[in-house]
Amino acid sequence: MRGKDVRLDKVMIRFGDATAVQPLDLTIEAGEFFSILGPSGCGKTTILRAISGFIEPTEGRVLIGGEDMVGKGPNQRPTALIFQNLALFPLMSVAENVAFGLEARGVSRADRLKRAQELLDLVALGGYGDKKPSDLSGGQRQRVAIARALAVEPSVLLLDEPLSALDLKLRQHMRTELRAIQRRVGITFIYITHDQGEALAMSDRVAVMSRGRLEQVATADQLYAEPATPFVATFVGEQNVLRGKLMRTIDGIATVETAVGRVEGRLRAEIGAGAEALVMVRPERIALGGNAGNSVPAKLVARHLEGPSINLDCEAAGQHFMVTMPNGPAVRDLPEDLVLSFGRDDALVFAEGALANG
Ligand SMILES: Nc1ncnc2c1ncn2[C@@H]1O[C@H](COP(=O)(O)OP(=O)(O)O)[C@@H](O)[C@H]1O
Ligand SMILES: [Mg+2]
Repeated sequence: MRGKDVRLDKVMIRFGDATAVQPLDLTIEAGEFFSILGPSGCGKTTILRAISGFIEPTEGRVLIGGEDMVGKGPNQRPTALIFQNLALFPLMSVAENVAFGLEARGVSRADRLKRAQELLDLVALGGYGDKKPSDLSGGQRQRVAIARALAVEPSVLLLDEPLSALDLKLRQHMRTELRAIQRRVGITFIYITHDQGEALAMSDRVAVMSRGRLEQVATADQLYAEPATPFVATFVGEQNVLRGKLMRTIDGIATVETAVGRVEGRLRAEIGAGAEALVMVRPERIALGGNAGNSVPAKLVARHLEGPSINLDCEAAGQHFMVTMPNGPAVRDLPEDLVLSFGRDDALVFAEGALANG
């Protein structure tokens, strides 16, 4: 099977008066595991439906493998779609389920079952063809659904929150499985989810969406270390957020006047002196004591043990700080008065803007 690239060219999608997807350009490479990540209602499913042909964009074009998909319905596109509700046929065997789509294509029964066997091998369910879906675990049924979707040899597999019905352990296990299946099959996977852990763990690249807009398209590492917007910074991972006024910028390092005093950080926006600014620092980038560039005297309010790590809830001038440290002797007997310190490189300065959690 060969993957194809998917290109959204100035795609905009409206339902009545409501714009679900603002005009956007996006290119997903052939063979890429690409995720679209964002909160519920941000337009993920709408984009997937436009790629698969269940809806036409209001404006713009969808191209798959360079070919304009306008006017082509779901059955005429080289895509297959999997969603949370798997809809396996309970009375058919696993192999018959996988082979189902091939019958309509006129493939003989013998060839259908041979193909089903190959696909079951591919999703590591080689010995399960004769079982019924009800004999399988949730994760195994998910893999049957993938094998069934792959039977029609799509170039692009579209997955709409396929793991959300599974329990946490299984979901985490399936991340590894899905990634391995994608590597083996080699076709393009477009995976949509509101779960950042899933997107970050599996994907070559992730597009973060908010309110019908693309906020950033990048690798997981880039999203975490170099978020482009306050939304991405706060949606992916945890942040301490300080509000303040930008005073000056020298060589990309901005000085911001905040409630806890002057803080320096890397400027991630095109704003000048006097602008309202947000300073973001990850909880694990803050150290106790030290001399890292920024230091903030604070009071320790509470400790929350997470097992291997511990979260310290601290307060300074009415501002809460979360500090995450490895659990160990160093955090056992902390005094109430602490100095929080973090480097200029560890603080990112943005223009005032929407955060992920209000
Ligand atoms: N068929 C439809 N008719 C009207 N509004 C819709 C339709 N489908 C989706 N929407 C709206 O478009 C927005 C995006 O929805 P959706 O793409 O399903 O979001 P997500 O998958 O990110 O949760 C939501 O405000 C939703 O209510
Ligand atoms: Mg959805």
